[in-house]
Amino acid sequence: MIVWTIANQKGGVGKTTTCVSLAGWMKKSDMKVLLIDTDPHASLTNYFGYDSDELSHTLFNLFTEQKFDAEFLRELVLKTDYDGIDIMPGSLALSTLDRTLGNEDGIGNILRKALETLSGDYDAVLIDCPPVLGVLMVNAIGAASRVIVPCQTEFLALKGLERMMKTFDVMTASTGRQFSYLIVPTMYDRRTRASVQSLESIRKDYSASLWGNYIPIDTKFRDSSQQHVPLPLLDPESRGSLAYHDLFVSMMKLEGIEL
Ligand SMILES: Nc1ncnc2c1ncn2[C@@H]1O[C@H](COP(=O)(O)OP(=O)(O)OP(=O)(O)O)[C@@H](O)[C@H]1O
Ligand SMILES: [Mg+2]
Repeated sequence: MIVWTIANQKGGVGKTTTCVSLAGWMKKSDMKVLLIDTDPHASLTNYFGYDSDELSHTLFNLFTEQKFDAEFLRELVLKTDYDGIDIMPGSLALSTLDRTLGNEDGIGNILRKALETLSGDYDAVLIDCPPVLGVLMVNAIGAASRVIVPCQTEFLALKGLERMMKTFDVMTASTGRQFSYLIVPTMYDRRTRASVQSLESIRKDYSASLWGNYIPIDTKFRDSSQQHVPLPLLDPESRGSLAYHDLFVSMMKLEGIEL
């Protein structure tokens, strides 16, 4: 089972949009995908039409109850309007975990252990992260086979990337594992100096782990989120959709799968 985590400590860079758009393309390729919302703001959960305040079971229960049998875990999963896309929702309560469980032994491995149980149920898992380094992001990165790091092409982008690289270093030091990651430039607007220059800087400093293309600015992302539909399912020919298709193909290639 493919497990991709979408992470960046910087907020508003396109993490949730990347997660939703890749899920859309996976569905179009007849893949069965599980989305996991580790963000206490639960934007991904809301995207698929759920009000996280009204849910009795969320990812929070996994962390507090720490049970790993299939029956328990499947109860945490909700269907979406799209056959083949399921979601393990997030909720505001997740924001308390750093304080209550942050120092517990083995706390970084909860999500990875849960996904081992569910590995027969799905072709792929996409994990959306909050823009904060904490128990949830550590779990999300620890569970991933690959990490996608969306990076908004603007002046402060490189600062955010530096912080993410440090996070990978710290996690490698504490787990002994290397993490494969791909930096994905987002919201690129070729008419603005900020976009052009920041993409140049990213290319200069991070060429080895940089995706060869970029996700352009496309106002259709806003429309699709208002309608709670992944853009590839609403308008597969839009510039934004096509760019995410390219990312999907690149990522699958890294997994050794030609589409
Ligand atoms: N390529 C794009 N073109 C235009 N708008 C975009 C693009 N990507 C994302 N957006 C918009 O930018 C906003 C932030 O995107 P998104 O929610 O995906 O970021 P995020 O990294 O998940 O944010 P957070 O850190 O708050 O979770 C959203 O309103 C989204 O619709
Ligand atoms: Mg988000």
